[in-house]
Amino acid sequence: MLFTITNTLYRCGTNVNVAMVGSKVDQIMDIFYVRSLEKRPKKSRTPKNSNRLKQPSWNGSPSYMQRRYDMKKIEAVIKPFKLDDVKEALSEIGIYGMTVTEVNGYGRQKGHKEIYRGAEYVVDFVPKIKLEIVVSDDRAEETIETVRNAANTGKIGDGKIFVLNVEKAIRVRTGETDTDAL
Ligand SMILES: Nc1ncnc2c1ncn2[C@@H]1O[C@H](COP(=O)(O)OP(=O)(O)OP(=O)(O)O)[C@@H](O)[C@H]1O
Ligand SMILES: [Mg+2]
Repeated sequence: MLFTITNTLYRCGTNVNVAMVGSKVDQIMDIFYVRSLEKRPKKSRTPKNSNRLKQPSWNGSPSYMQRRYDMKKIEAVIKPFKLDDVKEALSEIGIYGMTVTEVNGYGRQKGHKEIYRGAEYVVDFVPKIKLEIVVSDDRAEETIETVRNAANTGKIGDGKIFVLNVEKAIRVRTGETDTDAL
């Protein structure tokens, strides 16, 4: 098995420098550190070439093996009455595409009271709005700050923002991909 993998990597133009076994929670993985058999170009790589050499990222792997992503998805769970403010603030900075979903959720005050449209909710779930916004990596921080400022009332239940890496984006009509598709 190891011979087959090493042989395949060799046929793909890489040479295995070190092979080792690693573990993560309940998974065991074979890790191969490889070096390209091709001569390295003297000039620094263009972004296009470096895309080809991107590596998958694993927790605990050396930083030079961690893949960098060009896009981020910002998932924000906010108070419903703040949706218009957030949408307006985002269009002011030129962010237009987003997905909006009505959701129910709770944060750390589970079972405690929250106010929604003047009514006190003592049940676990409180109506919220979830926004999903995919932006290029270099606009992520600005987008997050804009959402946070616009959604903030200073009271409990203001929401939460999660940031995820995005592998790929495709505009259905034209076939444009990644940041061109945003
Ligand atoms: N850990 C979580 N995972 C997924 N969704 C979450 C998480 N925490 C909060 N949410 C979502 O965000 C919504 C708002 O959370 P909330 O603002 O109450 O968070 P919090 O941590 O309790 O902060 P605060 O103390 O300001 O209330 C929740 O109703 C839920 O939909
Ligand atoms: Mg809360």
